[in-house]
Amino acid sequence: MHKTDDTARCRRHLADEAATSAFGAQLAQALAPGLTFYLEGDLGAGKTTLVRGMLRALGYGGRVKSPTYTLAESYSLPAFELYHFDLYRMQDPREWLDAGFRDVDDGRAVSLIEWPDKAAGWLPPADVIVRLTIVDDAREIECDAASSRGARYLEACCTPC
Ligand SMILES: Nc1ncnc2c1ncn2[C@@H]1O[C@H](COP(=O)(O)OP(=O)(O)OP(=O)(O)O)[C@@H](O)[C@H]1O
Ligand SMILES: [Mg+2]
Repeated sequence: MHKTDDTARCRRHLADEAATSAFGAQLAQALAPGLTFYLEGDLGAGKTTLVRGMLRALGYGGRVKSPTYTLAESYSLPAFELYHFDLYRMQDPREWLDAGFRDVDDGRAVSLIEWPDKAAGWLPPADVIVRLTIVDDAREIECDAASSRGARYLEACCTPC
């Protein structure tokens, strides 16, 4: 964990899918209602794998489907509602409003948003921006705080690296 002023950053090399899931479990530790994450990275970078790891760690035992076609999946967890979005198929940012998603930012849910650029300007602001990069057969992950709340969150769940 690297900290300068009020920005916080956490980076890891993820050798395989299990490492991505395990890092998701680590990120799940400090989740709290109202946090918004943008999940960035190419097709197949591991965004959904990370979300799956988070949900497993939060005790969700059901199937975690990619919301590629549905745009969103929601999970009722004991402590909060978790929304997982995949906006890849959106043609126009206004589809975010048309789908009725404008109220997700009510402070009661955690929102994890894949392909946030597809609805740029309409989304709730990010607290944490996660970037996954494909490197050979593995992945690199970088989490950056985008708000003071996001910085406190990363300080709580990312041990020094
Ligand atoms: N650290 C890793 N090293 C190698 N392979 C990985 C790693 N993490 C995940 N994978 C694999 O990469 C693929 C990632 O798929 P996933 O659906 O999670 O990507 P995604 O970023 O959500 O893609 P999309 O933008 O299409 O939704 C899966 O096949 C998974 O097994
Ligand atoms: Mg995905």
